[in-house]
Amino acid sequence: MRVLILGGTAEARDLAVRLVEAGADVTSSLAGRVSRPRLPVGEVRIGGFGGAAGLAAYVRREAVDVLVDATHPFATTMTEHAVAAGAAAGVPVVRYARPGWSSRPDAAGWHWEPTLADVCRVAGSLGRRPFITSGRQTLPAYAAWTDRDVLVRVVEPLDEAPPPGWTVIEDRGPYVLAGELDLMRRHRIDVLVTKDSGGTFTSAKLDAAAELGVPVVVLARPVSPVGLTAVSSVEVAVAAVCGGV
Ligand SMILES: NC(=O)c1ccc[n+]([C@@H]2O[C@H](COP(=O)([O-])OP(=O)(O)OC[C@H]3O[C@@H](n4cnc5c(N)ncnc54)[C@H](OP(=O)(O)O)[C@@H]3O)[C@@H](O)[C@H]2O)c1
Repeated sequence: MRVLILGGTAEARDLAVRLVEAGADVTSSLAGRVSRPRLPVGEVRIGGFGGAAGLAAYVRREAVDVLVDATHPFATTMTEHAVAAGAAAGVPVVRYARPGWSSRPDAAGWHWEPTLADVCRVAGSLGRRPFITSGRQTLPAYAAWTDRDVLVRVVEPLDEAPPPGWTVIEDRGPYVLAGELDLMRRHRIDVLVTKDSGGTFTSAKLDAAAELGVPVVVLARPVSPVGLTAVSSVEVAVAAVCGGV
């Protein structure tokens, strides 16, 4: 069975291991955004496909049997392309995304917002020393925050110089509570801005915010498109791929 995993996440790497163990012929695809990516087992290809049509052509050419979208929960364009390409090539699509953070006990006290504009508005009203952890691609939404002490954490360097007053940290985690407490105390953070990425790699900031009484503003997950099989555990993902979907 030939499986194409659209990756770039820890879950995708985990799934590649499990599918190779199960005897599948696995190729993982990375977008090529990260300079030193953690590589999965099996074959790896890097770079965009050239839209949904390009992905469909790849799936046909490589005789892919199952397309697994294991990209980040907020990689919405890739997910849309996977659905369209799967339909065009007549190949099933499994969407494997880690569970979000909404079931955490403290999540009910957070500010859940549907759009980045809402996140910006609400966070802007809650504090003047925000800690932005919603990803490099979201930063233009906060560009007007030149009058406050902004702390930003990103995996890759920014393409352009940040606005004055911003402090940018490059780090890729995983993070631990002691480090997050220290960072947020040193910068006197008064509001945490994040998105519902889920998982444990980056969740220590949420524990730190709870301990420090810092309000949390969260960008909610995008709605999953129809036309795919959505799963949230590696076991179910393996069963869906190997058992036929
Ligand atoms: N968004 C996040 O917050 C986030 C966080 C951590 C990791 N990531 C990872 O970073 C990568 C890019 O995420 P994104 O949010 O920028 O994607 P996106 O906006 O959904 O996709 C934009 C374009 O990037 C290319 N692309 C994305 N993922 C790809 C993959 N796995 N293999 C080949 N091409 C890919 C595709 O180009 P073509 O149209 O040319 O095919 C796609 O149309 C993904 O691998 C994702 O898992 C994203």
